[in-house]
Amino acid sequence: MISKRIKTIAGLIHPDENVLDVGTDHAFLPIQLKLNGHRGKIAATELRKGPRNNAVKNLEEAGIDDVEVYLTPGVRGIDFAADVVVIAGMGLTTVTGIISDDPEYFADKRIIIQINHEMDRLRCWLMENSFMIENEVIIRDYKYYEILIVCKGQMHLDDMQIRFGPVLLREKSQTFIDCYSRKAEKLEMIIDSLPEQHPDREKLQKQLETVKEALN
Ligand SMILES: C[S@@+](CC[C@H](N)C(=O)[O-])C[C@H]1O[C@@H](n2cnc3c(N)ncnc32)[C@H](O)[C@@H]1O
Repeated sequence: MISKRIKTIAGLIHPDENVLDVGTDHAFLPIQLKLNGHRGKIAATELRKGPRNNAVKNLEEAGIDDVEVYLTPGVRGIDFAADVVVIAGMGLTTVTGIISDDPEYFADKRIIIQINHEMDRLRCWLMENSFMIENEVIIRDYKYYEILIVCKGQMHLDDMQIRFGPVLLREKSQTFIDCYSRKAEKLEMIIDSLPEQHPDREKLQKQLETVKEALN
């Protein structure tokens, strides 16, 4: 029942780290960590009462009584010394807002970020706000998800690294190749279906060339 996406995130966390799961919703990540035999402390936050109640109920049903679920935006006002903060399943502006609202909390922590869209804008934001990417993972769980591990530091990314991810581009895992081979096929199909003079043709052709470059 717990998704491959959540299991992958849990697998990126060392068993002794203290983990804060921001926007925990059903508390699936804390529950998965416990199933993995996590030894470090775990806490979570939720913005809304309904999801917080779900989280508390699910934790109780799983027999877990040592995971506090704070009802608060982001990490606001919490008393929990995390080593790693997970912010997953939210939009770009929510994630960047949570970090920007409490920059001192994030200053010495690893952050695991997973958003569903706008990965390029996320990487730009990280670069402009003095974060560096330690690691990146791409998985397929019905759709493709990119998961970033970041910490404070400087990085400079070129356009290709911003678009495809510096680690993902360097490692070119089989999942990365599958993802962008499918993307290239789709673009080719769209381009082939357009009349020769169609105004979108050039833009799509450029996109296709960029994807092919990433695959090489
Ligand atoms: C789509 S769910 C994702 C749940 C889980 N993190 C995951 O990856 O599956 C997003 C959750 O984040 C909560 N949320 C949104 N903004 C938040 C914020 N600023 N602080 C804490 N929780 C927030 C929402 O209430 C919702 O339960």
